[in-house]
Amino acid sequence: MTDDPSDTLSAEIARVRGWLADATGVVVLTGSGISAESRIPTFRDNMEGLWAEFDPQKLATPEAFDADPELVTRWYDMRRVKCLEAEPNPGHTALAEMQRQVAARGGSFTLLTQNVDGLHQRAGSTGVVELHGSITAWRGVRTARPFDLPHGPMDVFPPTFDDGEFARPGVVWFGENLPEDAIAAAYGAIESCDLFFTIGTSSVVYPAAGFVDIASARGAKTVEINPAATPATTSVDAVLAAKAGEALPRLV
Ligand code: OAD
Repeated sequence: MTDDPSDTLSAEIARVRGWLADATGVVVLTGSGISAESRIPTFRDNMEGLWAEFDPQKLATPEAFDADPELVTRWYDMRRVKCLEAEPNPGHTALAEMQRQVAARGGSFTLLTQNVDGLHQRAGSTGVVELHGSITAWRGVRTARPFDLPHGPMDVFPPTFDDGEFARPGVVWFGENLPEDAIAAAYGAIESCDLFFTIGTSSVVYPAAGFVDIASARGAKTVEINPAATPATTSVDAVLAAKAGEALPRLV
């Protein structure tokens, strides 16, 4: 056994490929790390993470919006435009291919994402469960009716309906509940999976961070894909210590 990391990675990829070939129920959880190679900043990665530059408590909470709806919506519209300008990367594309391969042999495949950037869908993944909402789905703060977004950047902050109601981004803010349908879909898929991937997430935000433990408790094999260690690293069955855009294409 060499201690060359690339040999270890290759061996682990071969092992996981074997599990994937036999899996009948696959669940994948992704975090912002899978979009890092699409040049969308993560949240907690040292200096280039979003939270290094902005204080989430001042921007990603209902109280922040109530206090300064212009600031909060300007920040989210800037992020929305960056997401629209970004392109899916080989990690996103490989997951869409994985879904096709599993479905082709009659297996079930569920992609759960904490990301709000829409890149999985643009890469061809279908039935994506957006646990934390979507940065391109804005809604009325009181009526929750959908707000029609301009193709380019907004020009009025906060965006406002004709009758004066403000619109907000359709993302989950700190202190808010996750969409009930997304949570139900997540637990339903995890209950019956035999292979669970946690990819590009620091595994610190619940309930998503707890999904890998539930899958493991149900007897599923669990795999982490992340260049860095996380609280999940010591409990999963296989660790691919690599970027998603490098490891995932080698799995499908
Ligand atoms: P974080 O920024 O907390 O973690 C990003 C993870 O991606 C880290 O573990 C990195 O090591 C890893 N990573 C970086 N580049 C990668 C790459 N190329 N391939 C694979 N992994 C890579 O982002 P999340 O875990 O997604 O919540 O954060 C979870 C939630 O916290 C977000 O959904 C957001 C935030 O508050 C809400 O907005 C409600």
